[in-house]
Amino acid sequence: MKFRLPFHAGLTSAAVLAAAMTVTGAFAQSAASHNGSAELTVQYDHPLHAVSPTLYGLMTEEINHSYDGGLYAELIQDRTFFHREHHSFHKVWELDQNAENGISIGVDDETGPSSALPYSLKLTATKASPSDPGGLDNPGYWGVPVWPDTTYRASIYLKSAGAENPGPVTMAIVNQSTGKVMASVTFPAAGPEWKQYTATMRTGDVAESEDNFVRITVSYPGSVLMNVPSLFPPTYENQKNGDRIDLMKRMAAMHPKFLRLPGGNYLEGNTLADWYDWKITIGRIVDRPTHPSPWGYQSSDGMGLLEYLEWCEDLHIQPVLAVYAGYALDHQHIPPGPELAPYVKDALEEIQYVTGSTSTKWGAVRARDGHPAPFQLKYVEIGNEDFFDPSHSYSGSHGRFAQFARAIRKAYPKLQLIATMPVKGDVQPDVVDDHFYRTPQQFLDDTHHYDKVSRKGPKIFVGEWATMEGSPTPDFGAALSDAAWMTGLERNSDLVIMASYAPLFANVNPMASQWVPDLIGYDSLHSYGSPSYYAQVMFGSYLGNQVVASKLTGAGPLCFESVTRDAGTHTLYVKIVNASPKAEPLTLHIKGAGGVDRSGTLVTLQADSTHATNSIADPRNIVPETRTVSWFGADVQHTFAPYSINVLKLHVQ
Ligand code: AHR
Repeated sequence: MKFRLPFHAGLTSAAVLAAAMTVTGAFAQSAASHNGSAELTVQYDHPLHAVSPTLYGLMTEEINHSYDGGLYAELIQDRTFFHREHHSFHKVWELDQNAENGISIGVDDETGPSSALPYSLKLTATKASPSDPGGLDNPGYWGVPVWPDTTYRASIYLKSAGAENPGPVTMAIVNQSTGKVMASVTFPAAGPEWKQYTATMRTGDVAESEDNFVRITVSYPGSVLMNVPSLFPPTYENQKNGDRIDLMKRMAAMHPKFLRLPGGNYLEGNTLADWYDWKITIGRIVDRPTHPSPWGYQSSDGMGLLEYLEWCEDLHIQPVLAVYAGYALDHQHIPPGPELAPYVKDALEEIQYVTGSTSTKWGAVRARDGHPAPFQLKYVEIGNEDFFDPSHSYSGSHGRFAQFARAIRKAYPKLQLIATMPVKGDVQPDVVDDHFYRTPQQFLDDTHHYDKVSRKGPKIFVGEWATMEGSPTPDFGAALSDAAWMTGLERNSDLVIMASYAPLFANVNPMASQWVPDLIGYDSLHSYGSPSYYAQVMFGSYLGNQVVASKLTGAGPLCFESVTRDAGTHTLYVKIVNASPKAEPLTLHIKGAGGVDRSGTLVTLQADSTHATNSIADPRNIVPETRTVSWFGADVQHTFAPYSINVLKLHVQ
């Protein structure tokens, strides 16, 4: 399948090319200037400012099959037969057809299970029999995962198609290599009205595998109409329309504080017609018509607005809701004024869906959808990357931002509003979203980016950022630059209140992904964290709540630091990133404390080469090593390994 790239993807390609240039050259340079007498002096009793409590979070969108074929646990690809009239139909669905079963398919454009899906697939068997059943095969998202002794939830909408009914409909998971049925369930014969049939199927004592497909068959002659066949494995927190357990656990380990949703380009769409219309993503699955993702494939919208919010709820994090602001990736925009007003109204209704009580119109709809309790919402972002808008329709004093901001502030004065670029005029954002996709060298050179930025203007949300090295996921050189950059975010977290790496996810099947690198990789059965992921885990896990005065002297130019504390628990966190190929001997002096316990924790992420990485085949090549040490003190010397990211967790009296 050839994927269409979004309209400004050229920038991305340039960044990827730039990232492919040698990082090692830059790293090698550092070795020469290193003199081995580094000292880090920490003034424990001199906190500079609070660490933003929301500093590290997640950014998400439907890219690289992040949801369909990723986090959203549905196993059947194209369950709404979107490709029914396209040549690509048979790339997803295949007929299980032979001379004995006489299977054929057609599309019934008149009959569907809902107004969102007003059509159905008509499966006809002329000669099927229990010994020669036939039907349709679905490959899943590059395989269907099978685990032993596991219960799957299956469902399908069926309606009889005429006089001859082929009887019960079977759904099975079949092994590609052996043809063996791993689990199956049989639904009753379809009746004259549309009905959703649900059931469970269970695997037995089978080996774990992903080399499987889903088969839907009938065993007698006749015709039946179907739509929305669905199959779910166990999900996180047993949510019905839920998420992959392994990926949720990987996110939880990052200790994120927020989720920026639903994009990214996915919020905007390629054209004005493709905008993220949240109203078509809520309610029953059968009421969601699906919509095009700008990343070249149709989104099932199984991950709809409520599912995003439940994702936040399951991880105990807050949503950062991005509302569509009238700009598309093809550089078209809705002019501010009356033409934009319906979109502003839509954003207000979206906020009401998220936060309103059940006595409000959209709060009641959320309750109908299964979630009566309102969600907490503090931040709303207006648009995405509107600096690409050549007409500057966003940033003027009567621009798109101002129109949204005025209306949202009037209705929801407590919300903090995020702009996607600096804006002019009286209506100022509370926060501006900065994006950085950079080479390792660019990040290493710019760790002081926010040191001198004015504290008088809006706060900063680094809503998308990544070091662009490694494919499909970042390598260790990228992780080092990421970590160096994060020391700067932490030191400046009075200004930088939130930051989220992007993209978060990639299905690493080459047909599935449109962007590299991505933080977490997976196929249908396995997942792994990249070295950059583990850098995020370390920074998120050992954060502290106040930045402490510190001074680094005598270190090589590729040594970076950040020091925070939690005065309540008497804990000091010292982060040292040594991005150099040479060891960094460093003496740590902790002043202003009554004493420092000898026993503490040292966490290290290290590799011998910047090109070292993790993968599906070698998921734990580079993982943090956590050691309890007994040599900490007020003055302590330690040699930090070449190419290493380190956290010292010390207990201070
Ligand atoms: O993260 C990938 C893309 O990069 C996002 O969709 C977009 O906001 C940015 O250009």
